[in-house]
Amino acid sequence: MSGFVVWFTGLSGAGKSTLGAMLAAELRTRGVHVEVLDGDEVRTHLSKGLGFSREDRDTNVRRIGFVAKLVARSGACAITGAISPFRAIRDEQRAQIDRFVEVYCSASIDALAERDPKGLYRKALAGEIKGFTGIDDPYEPPLAPEVTLYTDRESKEESLAKIVARLEELGHVP
Ligand code: PPS
Repeated sequence: MSGFVVWFTGLSGAGKSTLGAMLAAELRTRGVHVEVLDGDEVRTHLSKGLGFSREDRDTNVRRIGFVAKLVARSGACAITGAISPFRAIRDEQRAQIDRFVEVYCSASIDALAERDPKGLYRKALAGEIKGFTGIDDPYEPPLAPEVTLYTDRESKEESLAKIVARLEELGHVP
């Protein structure tokens, strides 16, 4: 099989990491080699020291795209899980990566603020964190993603099944 990239995008807490890990496990059972570039993990290694200005976010996303491209070129699947809030930079990655599958994790701010496992929405709404995506910093949803998940109303299993079905349809997985 040829390598490919599954590029998750969506607000903090929308399910990118959880679904990325579930997808990785599912693909491995099908014999696909997978590397996961999780958003939080990337920021502790590859993008250590970067903040959340537009410039730093763009740098972070470009670094992830660069590594994902190498992984896919070696024949494996790269799964990325950064918010990647800006459409132009995501589209830039799409343009340079063959077999780019964009998965949009859509969820309402209300649902995310209600769930809020890290307590970040509470802090952002209280003004204790400035420039938080979706609160006082932009998130530009994809216009034509390969997959859209509604993680505030689908089960994780339903969302996973939608991604796998699309990958099969595209011929990326057996
Ligand atoms: S980006 O925009 O793609 O570079 O962001 P990413 O690398 O995915 O990092 C997002 C996680 O960092 C935490 N965090 C913030 N998110 C958004 N805005 C601000 N200002 C911010 N500060 C810290 C947050 O926990 C994100 O977590 P998840 O849930 O993994 O997206």
